Amino acid sequence: MTLPDSVRAALEDAAQTIVEATYVTALAGAGMSAESGIPTFRGPGGLWKKYGEPDNLGYQRFLKDPQQWWEERLSENQMPEMREALEKAEPNPGHYALVDLERIGALRHLVTQNVDNLHRAAGSESISEIHGNHTLIRCIKCVRRFRRDEISLDKLPPECPTCDGLLKTDTVMFGEPIPPDVLRRCQEEAALSDCVLILGTSAIVYPAAALPEVARRLNGATLIEINPNETALTEVCDIVVRAPTGEALPELVTAVRRAQGHGEVSGGILEAT
Ligand code: OAD
Repeated sequence: MTLPDSVRAALEDAAQTIVEATYVTALAGAGMSAESGIPTFRGPGGLWKKYGEPDNLGYQRFLKDPQQWWEERLSENQMPEMREALEKAEPNPGHYALVDLERIGALRHLVTQNVDNLHRAAGSESISEIHGNHTLIRCIKCVRRFRRDEISLDKLPPECPTCDGLLKTDTVMFGEPIPPDVLRRCQEEAALSDCVLILGTSAIVYPAAALPEVARRLNGATLIEINPNETALTEVCDIVVRAPTGEALPELVTAVRRAQGHGEVSGGILEAT
């Protein structure tokens, strides 16, 4: 894989900044999973380009008639390409690179807007899924999450086995507040950050898009964007890496290891040289 010299230079700057920072976090978006075959939302081939952006009333419709919502959800094949892509997708080198960065102590926390479970599948541990996880079901009252196979869907809407609250998919719907536990954690992590990686997101959906700016305001955080295209945050970023995350992030791991004074990373196992 050959990255242009300008991209390599930006990655070297990014690696140096990461090594000098005390608390590095990342905000990831749909572009991270593009190389796993999952369509993005905006831009060419984006889902909202094809279907139109949903209105903000989805959560209200769920609350008004949860039984009907569940029935529709189980019978309809909404956005079939997304469902198929989610079933087949596997983590790409960008996901594994974030796991490597976490393991070598260079990344403290990852906030992802992706619901595809690929960061967890790759092995990321310090993670907040700000828009939920499509493999889980969540109680809107006690916020407990369950694996799908833990919940019977024989009677709709399903009820929380713990508190009898209403269950919905963990994926955050349009018009639905971010679950308070995950929002609190994201805000805490932003408040600790003095460097934020902004990865494969158009950075226009709030509150996620506000997190790098919170870190900048509170700690003067250095903002590093990795994205083949310009985004809403490009202008305020200190370092911009114009490349796909699946190509740039593995190179960033190598550069960080070098800047830390260690050897190369191979297959997730650290090799001293
Ligand atoms: P978007 O679809 O808005 O943006 C995807 C970004 O990925 C764009 O900036 C692309 O340039 C970039 N991109 C494309 N291919 C890439 C690659 N190989 N490597 C790196 N970047 C690449 O997706 P998000 O910003 O994640 O919310 O959208 C945020 C939220 O809007 C989503 O979580 C979803 C959506 O409505 C909910 O569903 C609640």
